[in-house]
Amino acid sequence: MTWRVPLFDTRFGSAEEEAVLRPLRAAWLTMGEEVRALEEELAQLCGAAHAIALCNCTAALQLAAAALGLGPGCEVLCPSLTFVASASAPRQTGARIRFCDICGPDDLTLDPDALAQAITPATKAIVAVHYAGFPCQMEAIGALAAKHGLAVIEDCAHAVFSRYGGKMLGLHGHAGCFSFYSNKNITCGEGGAIITNDAALAERIRLMRSHGMSVPTLERHAGHAFSYDVTLAGFNFRLDELRAALLRAQLKRLPGFLDQRRQVFEWYSARLAGSPIHMPFLGSRFSECFSTTAVHILAVLLPEHTNRAAVMTHLKARGIQSSIHYPPLHLLSAYRDPAVRLERTEALAARELTLPLFPAMAESDVEYVTSGLLSAVAGQRRQERGQTPSERGLPPAAPTVRSAH
Ligand SMILES: Cc1ncc(COP(=O)(O)O)c(C=O)c1O
Repeated sequence: MTWRVPLFDTRFGSAEEEAVLRPLRAAWLTMGEEVRALEEELAQLCGAAHAIALCNCTAALQLAAAALGLGPGCEVLCPSLTFVASASAPRQTGARIRFCDICGPDDLTLDPDALAQAITPATKAIVAVHYAGFPCQMEAIGALAAKHGLAVIEDCAHAVFSRYGGKMLGLHGHAGCFSFYSNKNITCGEGGAIITNDAALAERIRLMRSHGMSVPTLERHAGHAFSYDVTLAGFNFRLDELRAALLRAQLKRLPGFLDQRRQVFEWYSARLAGSPIHMPFLGSRFSECFSTTAVHILAVLLPEHTNRAAVMTHLKARGIQSSIHYPPLHLLSAYRDPAVRLERTEALAARELTLPLFPAMAESDVEYVTSGLLSAVAGQRRQERGQTPSERGLPPAAPTVRSAH
């Protein structure tokens, strides 16, 4: 399907084309000069002591969980309104996942009070997901973690790269995990990274990234060693040189991309102000850091009881792609637990709709999308007014009490 306005639109230029030729010409394809330079550039950009390049963010989350020792018997607190990797990664290392609720319609990130209530003696870590690029309440989460001796893994897949309270997201906890997947703020197809200021943790992550081998292949190629030891059980979560080179070229364009993303967000908020569509993340906590926020997806909340599928179909007929972020994890088969009720997550996820957002979007595109959305919602309301409550799937209205006069 060719969309008139797609959900995201990745464009590469001659800088990216040139970049991927470098490792081909150097004939060294993995964990070489490009990965080393990328890690240096990421660390510098983030103000991090350590940056470790990886094959994707799911691997980054799993590696962080493994390096922090989150195994069987450990509980990890995680939002349900996130991509499944936030939960599946610590589950893969043997931890039990406990889902926690989000704040509310103006803030779709983890609720620190819900976290506090969920903590048990078995709780060992929190996965803080910066949904849509907007920061969790890291002061409150950090205080809670310090009080109970918990590790904090930041899932920054959407927050490439956001500053909050003067510090890069990813450095507020113990390890910050990033995604460079195709639809992310910058991309190399598949890619990820961890940033941390903890030298011992970084060392463990580096070892675990490549089978726990004490000497990498490049060192042996350079003639610095003949053999190696394996000091722990690791993975192969390495990033190759072609992707690292591509990402380095993208990194240079990131500041421009982020400015454009924030501009598109502002166009949306101006167009939807006063309409029945609710835009989260407009409160003062977010406006204070907006100029350094990454803004990855454009999540809106439809009015209650709106038929979301019908709205998406209406948009599709106009060539507008939309999506849903996310089906709550605690309602998916692999994670379903009838004992878990997350009222805000369930109510708000049912109303969430993701609209197109990408740097090259023009104001006229935003006008086209919002007009389509508003006409879809208005059309549904007109239709509803013509229906009885039971046709709309609602309980019958209570009988009207007439005045005696
Ligand atoms: C919140 C979140 N966490 C983790 C991931 C996993 O990232 P990757 O595809 O790089 O493994 C994604 C991917 O979309 C994501 O949205």
